Amino acid sequence: MTRSAHSANPHMAAPLDGRQKPARGSWSTILSLLPYLWPKHEFWLRLRLVLASICMVVAKIATVFVPILLYHAIDHLSAKDAIITVPAGLIVGYAAVRIASTGFAELRDAIFAAVQMRASRVVARQTFEHLHNLSMRFHLDRQTGGLSNIILRGTLGIQNVLRLATFNIIPTIIELLLTAGALWHFFDVWYALITFAAVTFYIGFTFTFTSWRGKFRRIMNETDNEAQTKAIDSLINFETVKYFGNEEHESRRFDESLARYEKASVKSQVSLNALNIGQAVIISSALGVMMMMAANGVAHHGMTVGKFVLVNTYLMQLYVPLNFLGFVYLQVNQGLIDMEQMFSLLRVNQEIKDKPGAKVVAPQGPPAQIVFEDVHFAYNPDRQILKGISFSVEPGKKVALVGPTGSGKSTTSRLLFRFYDVTQGSVKIDGIDVRDVTQHSLRAAIGVVPQDTVLFNDSIFYNIAYGRPGATVAEIEQAARLAQIHDFIVSLPQGYKTKVGERGLKLSGGEKQRVAIARTILKNPRILILDEATSALDTATEQDIGAALRSVADHRTTLVIAHRLSTVTDADEILVLRDGEIVERGGHAALLAMDGVYAAMWAAQVELEAAADVAGVEPARLESVPEAAD
Ligand SMILES: Nc1ncnc2c1ncn2[C@@H]1O[C@H](COP(=O)(O)OP(=O)(O)OP(=O)(O)O)[C@@H](O)[C@H]1O
Ligand SMILES: [Mg+2]
Repeated sequence: MTRSAHSANPHMAAPLDGRQKPARGSWSTILSLLPYLWPKHEFWLRLRLVLASICMVVAKIATVFVPILLYHAIDHLSAKDAIITVPAGLIVGYAAVRIASTGFAELRDAIFAAVQMRASRVVARQTFEHLHNLSMRFHLDRQTGGLSNIILRGTLGIQNVLRLATFNIIPTIIELLLTAGALWHFFDVWYALITFAAVTFYIGFTFTFTSWRGKFRRIMNETDNEAQTKAIDSLINFETVKYFGNEEHESRRFDESLARYEKASVKSQVSLNALNIGQAVIISSALGVMMMMAANGVAHHGMTVGKFVLVNTYLMQLYVPLNFLGFVYLQVNQGLIDMEQMFSLLRVNQEIKDKPGAKVVAPQGPPAQIVFEDVHFAYNPDRQILKGISFSVEPGKKVALVGPTGSGKSTTSRLLFRFYDVTQGSVKIDGIDVRDVTQHSLRAAIGVVPQDTVLFNDSIFYNIAYGRPGATVAEIEQAARLAQIHDFIVSLPQGYKTKVGERGLKLSGGEKQRVAIARTILKNPRILILDEATSALDTATEQDIGAALRSVADHRTTLVIAHRLSTVTDADEILVLRDGEIVERGGHAALLAMDGVYAAMWAAQVELEAAADVAGVEPARLESVPEAAD
């Protein structure tokens, strides 16, 4: 399962769309399940597997005895010269083996259920954990609806494969062998050979035909995924859909996937019917031939009626699991495809990995030092975003990053957080490269108020408490007070229990931002990154929070990203970033004196603010200003 792909684009190595054949053979997928069937350190689960196997064998032996008892009973009744007595013992025995046949099969499934469910739970959990370990890049490329669908179907697939492969295919083979043996014993080798040949042909036909129609199933999967993804994406973007009145467009996109699903489903159904007909023809023909032989035996070779019935009962009995085998093969095949998709997710290379023996950054402690050394970075090789950035933030100091939109400010903060690795140069915390420490400890030491806050669809309390699970109510309220949002929250009818809606959309932009600030204050990290943390607030609130943030930032190393320059005038150093390069740096006063890019941005903002003061409105955010600064 750890096979790694070394393609140019490692995170794309796994085929996730259903049209492709599974990357590995079915056998290796089945083999990869074995450790889950025989779990380490789980004595009881192992015992269950053993008991279930015993039940399976007992059930099949009982099944083979059913026709034998019936045959003896019939012969007993039709014996010419004997006194006709009711063969009560045989009939009771017949009923008993029938009960044993069904009962042990049910017992087998009952005992096995725990093993099967545990295996699918373990794999689902592993996949989920793995998804959280994959890089930002992977998650931006994938669509969540499709991913969760793959896990859902993969888990079901595991359950089906385990149940059916282990306890239907194997028992059917046992039954076939026992039946052929019995036929050989009671008749001659030809009966056994015909049965064997018919069943082999039947199985061959079923498997070939089923593999052929597998492609319909794969298309169904793929289009189902597609429809789900589109539906979820469209519903999440409900607001945007309304803004542009594009309901019609969304329905059409959704319906396109549904239409392809519909077409594939019909083909799948029709081919299933054809399969069933073919199967019936094969088995019934064999049955016909053998009954002819038996009838001939009764007529000319003194064979008893009981034996004639015996042939029929054996074949009819074998037909039941065989008929099921087609369905089983389908389910197993499908299950393998679904599982393979899930396993291929597990094999997606982790782009950002902890080195073996990676160091740990202390989450608490004295302020840290941040150093960027000649950092180059590109999201995609064909477009360089950062072109050699060097700066340092000394312990407890505050550095501001300003500059036009798209210049790479948020990217810089993502590199510090190690969402991505630099392509050249290094990012160091306290002199240690961030690639040499564990991601978990690195991220525990850094608090980020991101540019776009999204919240969990839960209460305000939950969202703030998320900053430090286990924080007390008093601590949470204190953090909310510092972020200037406590009073607002208690003024709500449901207070801290108010639900924030999907992605936090029931709160205003400024409220959301303050919740995000509160949860970062609660986290109490050594390093603070504020990416446009107060951009959605009015000037008065911004000033209040600014004071709070300053007191929070006081004894921490802080990196502030801001468009509104007035919020960063107190920074120890201001870096002006343009097109991925630092074009100016220094304190506010020094930069103004330089009369360059920064001074121009400042002048434009002062002008805007003055105009806003006159008009009595809030100054606009200044993303559009950079052109003026050029
Ligand atoms: N995941 C990504 N994949 C590819 N390109 C990206 C990705 N994220 C950002 N970019 C590009 O990188 C550039 C820098 O983005 P970044 O978010 O760092 O800008 P920014 O300086 O924070 O801008 P803003 O002031 O608008 O927030 C942008 O041109 C953007 O299109
Ligand atoms: Mg940004």
